[in-house]
Amino acid sequence: METTIRLRVDGVQHEVSVDHRTTLLDLMRERLDVTAPKKGCDHGQCGTCTVLLDGRRHLTCLALAVAHDGADVVTADGLAADGLHPVQQAFLDHDGYQCGYCTPGQVCSAVGVLDEVAQGHPSHVTGDLTAEVALDDDEIRERMSGNLCRCGAYPGILAAVRQAAGTGSEQGA
Ligand code: FES
Ligand code: FES
Repeated sequence: METTIRLRVDGVQHEVSVDHRTTLLDLMRERLDVTAPKKGCDHGQCGTCTVLLDGRRHLTCLALAVAHDGADVVTADGLAADGLHPVQQAFLDHDGYQCGYCTPGQVCSAVGVLDEVAQGHPSHVTGDLTAEVALDDDEIRERMSGNLCRCGAYPGILAAVRQAAGTGSEQGA
């Protein structure tokens, strides 16, 4: 069964007929020529397919496209539409990558993390739920734990998110 949906991806409006079993990741990569989100596990375990879906980070390998008619998707490419996003610049500044395969997902996830913290959302490691969330290293590690990096670029990723959060860049990883 197919349904026609409308989707805005990195500022470009699309109208496509999709099989109800098609994931948002496959729709973008196979039919819309949007390849910034990568397919890693295809099972919600690695984070390489992360985008910002209606402003919140989301795993596109677990999202059925038909369920997101009218959605606004921003990928790592879209974040760079007007020059590098500060999170992307921070990843460059701190070598937060090696092969780069996980990087688009890491970047989108980090942007989502900063927004979640700005909105006061606690995480599993947040201690005082009545206080403002301080994005320390434990918080960054916890909040970024859904994004795996097989190259082990974690020290650089941690430093990059720290810089983007404005909490300094000199602490040890
Ligand atoms: S490809 Fe989506 S979480 Fe791994
Ligand atoms: S930079 Fe290679 S998987 Fe993360």
